Amino acid sequence: MNVDKGYVDAPVPDDVTDLKEAILKLKKEKDAIIMAHYYQKGEIQDIADFIGDSLALAQIAARTEAKIIVMCGVHFMGETAKILCPDKKVIIPDLNAGCSLADSCPADEYEKFIRERPGHTVISYVNTTARVKSLTDILVTSGNALKIVESLSEDEKIIFGPDRNLGEYISSMTGRTMAIWDGACHVHERFSLEKIMELKKANPEAKLLVHPECKKPLQLIADKVGSTAVLLKYAVESEAGSFIVATESGIIHELQKQCPEKTFIPAPPADSTCGCNDCSFMKLNTLQKLYNCLFYELPEIVVDEQLMESARRPIERMLELSKNIGR
Ligand code: 13P
Ligand code: SF4
Repeated sequence: MNVDKGYVDAPVPDDVTDLKEAILKLKKEKDAIIMAHYYQKGEIQDIADFIGDSLALAQIAARTEAKIIVMCGVHFMGETAKILCPDKKVIIPDLNAGCSLADSCPADEYEKFIRERPGHTVISYVNTTARVKSLTDILVTSGNALKIVESLSEDEKIIFGPDRNLGEYISSMTGRTMAIWDGACHVHERFSLEKIMELKKANPEAKLLVHPECKKPLQLIADKVGSTAVLLKYAVESEAGSFIVATESGIIHELQKQCPEKTFIPAPPADSTCGCNDCSFMKLNTLQKLYNCLFYELPEIVVDEQLMESARRPIERMLELSKNIGR
């Protein structure tokens, strides 16, 4: 089967009347596990075996006994799963699901940045390519970065990449000076502070939830800054009845599911009349592509053997240091 487009471009067979049912049946037959990030379309989250933040997805991938991992997320998430499970088949509905943050850190330039700063411990965010991971000492996600940096000795010199907003957040929370790579996520950087201030004025009771990939002024006015899983937990446990959500709007699906009585207001981006802020990469995965992906077991995430070896070490260090966090 041809995957030149980055996904299997085939019609769903005529005898398939219920796509969701057909996917669940295929999944069982093939001993596959469907994992989905909170930014996936709601219909994909609804049929996943696990939904979670980047940390939980890595933790679950490391433990699964399924033969096939279907990663409904973006490419680096599938790559991380493959590196952790080299003997399993890891497939993704659409290989074009990239990440602007990972793209903001080309491996050759990151290597030069590291070489120019000898004696530093290299901490990199999970939103990176396998090559960037192979240049890293410890990998982090937004769910464990704070704890991992805090666990390092005071005199350890740190390079942090590639997200400058998360890096500055960690630096301000820990008081650690870090050499921070100048990268960012285009989705989280485009929230409008002005529009959010207006929303806060109109909804004075609402708590503001902010992902640390957002710019600092937004972090400073947040009631809670954290990974998608941390924001979800905060909303579930909070006594507040309404929340302004400054992260990709896909998470509102699970927020609303877990808190049906609460109101979630998506924070608007600056450059759009639409109230939501979607990651176009995350939204490339559809139910039809997921069906074809499972049926043909394509497209597959393939990583060079040697690269997998060197990229696995920082991921395993992260998992070791995150035993009490996440799943
Ligand atoms: P988390 O779900 O780990 O917070 O990550 C957010 C993100 O941008 C994933 O691409
Ligand atoms: Fe990457 Fe941002 Fe999309 Fe997450 S939301 S996958 S960081 S581009």
